Amino acid sequence: MDRLSSGAGPLPIVGKPQLPIGQFESRPGIIDLGWGHPGPELLPTAGLGQAAVRVLERYGPDALNYGYAGGPGPLIAWVCERLCEVDAVAPTPDCVVASAGNSQALDHLATLLTAPGDVVLVEAPTYHLAVRILQDHPVDLVPVHADRFGLRVDVLAQTVRRLREQHRQVRFLYTIPTFHNPTGASLAKERRRELVKFAETEEVLIIEDDAYRELSYDGAAPPSLWSLASPGAVIRLGSFAKSLAPGLRTGFITADAAIAGRIRDSGLLDSGGGISHFSSLMVAEFAATGEYARNVEKLRRAYTERRDVLLTALSQELDGRATWLHPSGGYFVWVTLPPGRDASALLPQAEANGSSYLPGSTFYLEAGEGLRSLRLAFSRYRPEELVEAVRRLGRILGGPTARLGPAAV
Ligand SMILES: Cc1ncc(COP(=O)(O)O)c(C=O)c1O
Repeated sequence: MDRLSSGAGPLPIVGKPQLPIGQFESRPGIIDLGWGHPGPELLPTAGLGQAAVRVLERYGPDALNYGYAGGPGPLIAWVCERLCEVDAVAPTPDCVVASAGNSQALDHLATLLTAPGDVVLVEAPTYHLAVRILQDHPVDLVPVHADRFGLRVDVLAQTVRRLREQHRQVRFLYTIPTFHNPTGASLAKERRRELVKFAETEEVLIIEDDAYRELSYDGAAPPSLWSLASPGAVIRLGSFAKSLAPGLRTGFITADAAIAGRIRDSGLLDSGGGISHFSSLMVAEFAATGEYARNVEKLRRAYTERRDVLLTALSQELDGRATWLHPSGGYFVWVTLPPGRDASALLPQAEANGSSYLPGSTFYLEAGEGLRSLRLAFSRYRPEELVEAVRRLGRILGGPTARLGPAAV
């Protein structure tokens, strides 16, 4: 038995680290539901440690050398099998490329597919750090509004028509149709078909961020846009950050064979080989023993409990003072305050009371949007801490408000 699986915990860190190791910044006294991070105790340190050892035993120096540009064969073959179980269609291996997670994949695709001055469409609201990635490229971002059923395809059609009348080149739409960040909403089935049809007929490429597919809590996740579309219409980004461990920096792209080939042939992969060679082999090794599937089951159970605890605490503490969406998967609950309230303005008070969140305006491109909303992540903290965080929020949100109507985006 090794140190981690014997419960002995990690080795002490040698020397005093002068520079940080992780992204998370703990603020004593604050339960910070702003972080979309996994619960640290839910990361399979022992199992991944053993997988790393087995990778070295099995592949020897090939595990440590430059890898095949498209990602190691064992990972690609297993991704095809896994998608057969968790999506409506399985890709063939020529349509799959390993990535270093969805952030890297999005950045790489923006490099390969866009030219200066192109338009990239994003949902409003959308994942704020995808916006940061896209803003590293000389493109113009244009928002398309979503509601609680996901992206408004009618608004998308109007936006594309308007941009084309202005002779703008609409390069792609970046969208998160399943267990959205920040809203937790999933694009309704009918809208999925409409969106795919629109993309096919109007030749608007879709980049589908499918980071949360494995974390479904009320039955199977809906079919991906990629699985519904004809080849070439959708590129899907899949990540092991949520279903396994973000520090591994591994994921995959499914695309049509031509785009997958273009990614494999890119200068980045020609120079460096597979972008996440060793950790991709670790994922494949972890999956081969059935541990990946068991890990996902464990995460689904833990996060279902955390989601339910958070929703119950919201009902107890904020009923009549806020509304919220019920997420069927992912990490987030999207809360909307009554008219006239501003989640950014309330944040200092919330933090002074020991809880924090991300204000809704973080997720919009345009100033003045999302002011009444806030995003709560239920992933990182234990149930009792979630209850306490909501209790603290309840204290600062004032008295009950008359009729709020349905939860909004
Ligand atoms: C929608 C979405 N996409 C991408 C990411 C980042 O993915 P990765 O860790 O695979 O780079 C996140 C992380 O929070 C996310 O919520």
